Amino acid sequence: MILSCTATFLSITCSNKLSKFTGAIMILDVTLGERNYPISIGKGLLNQFNHFMLPPNSRVLIATNTTIAPLYLTKLTTMLEANGVKTDSIIVPDGEKYKTVETWNTILTALLSGNHTRQTTLIALGGGVIGDVVGFAASAYQRGIKFIQVPTTLLAQVDSSVGGKTAINHPLGKNMIGAFYQPQAVVIDIDCLKTLPARELSAGLAEVIKYGIILDAEFFNWLESHIDDLLRLDPEAVSYCIYHCCKLKAEVVIADETEQNLRAILNLGHTYGHAIEAELGYGNWLHGEAVSVGILMAAQTANLLGKMSLSDIDRIKNLLQRAGLPVTRPETMPPAAYLPHMLRDKKVLSGQLRLVIPTKIGGAEIVDGIDSDTVLQSIARV
Ligand code: NAD
Ligand code: GLY
Repeated sequence: MILSCTATFLSITCSNKLSKFTGAIMILDVTLGERNYPISIGKGLLNQFNHFMLPPNSRVLIATNTTIAPLYLTKLTTMLEANGVKTDSIIVPDGEKYKTVETWNTILTALLSGNHTRQTTLIALGGGVIGDVVGFAASAYQRGIKFIQVPTTLLAQVDSSVGGKTAINHPLGKNMIGAFYQPQAVVIDIDCLKTLPARELSAGLAEVIKYGIILDAEFFNWLESHIDDLLRLDPEAVSYCIYHCCKLKAEVVIADETEQNLRAILNLGHTYGHAIEAELGYGNWLHGEAVSVGILMAAQTANLLGKMSLSDIDRIKNLLQRAGLPVTRPETMPPAAYLPHMLRDKKVLSGQLRLVIPTKIGGAEIVDGIDSDTVLQSIARV
């Protein structure tokens, strides 16, 4: 079976009225009925209480990590306390290798030992690792409490904080344990990117480029012209980029919240990429770096299936490279080492691989039953 998705398809099915502008601050509504929530994007939002959607006299537990706490925890706590919110915090170790059941349990223990009730709101202050594990803790504590995403990496601002996928890793597979659980608000302060290491900024750009490839050729063209502006954190380019990515993601999530079909296209490059992350040990290759190489492998699969031209693949490779991302596979990982990981992917159907492949810049398909020879050849080409 082949599921096709193009930007045209999305613009037919999704509302164009997602956005409203409030001065320099942009707000998108993720319209999911009872689970609606706003995404606020702008400078200095850690100082702006109204975007957090918290009633006065609320109680929150802010969960963050050892790197982000010294940078932003006091700022956030001070602002919330000044607005009558009672705050607690929990600081967990930093890193993908801590996206585990143990960290999840530490957060739950902090909630229990702090006598937090169902009225407490959890705040995830950090990158995608914090967002995913904290969201999963929110989904489980007392069968579900409210939570707010305050993403501090580019990757989390354009992707992981939006859409309600929460998860932890297992030694046998990445993001294999988790829940679909939407936040009550996403607050994106682009000033946080100023402290982000360059390698992490590049990792976020892999997910940004992904949106252009799967959904929006015009956005891909824009990225080709503005990648240097993004790398030097030009505020106008960064705000536009984050806004546009969140808009694209929100449209997909609204159309298919629990990934019955369409949402899977957001996983372009991830089946190959997750194999790299799992095989090399979580955190050795950053998620975005593995996705970069994975996107090129998926593009080669498309080419082998006669669905993508080599000139489009060159354009993609060139943009990924300019964004500071790896474009060749890890030397220590032979093609055969990918398959066992790929067969544990959540998209596998009846033991058969299900891959997202690009069909052109601005379009993608989900293809079932790709044979392992094609997969091995695709990997060997990158
Ligand atoms: P991350 O959370 O590990 O953050 C990267 C590093 O940057 C960490 O060391 C972190 O402490 C540090 N950091 C974060 N913000 C900072 C800041 N403002 N200044 C300085 N340092 C900062 O990694 P990530 O790339 O944000 O997220 C990757 C994770 O996201 C993966 O686990 C991936 O599976 C997940 N993910 C989830 C979804 C989803 O839909 N839920 C989508 C994409 C990725
Ligand atoms: N990052 C993939 C998704 O949210 O579906």
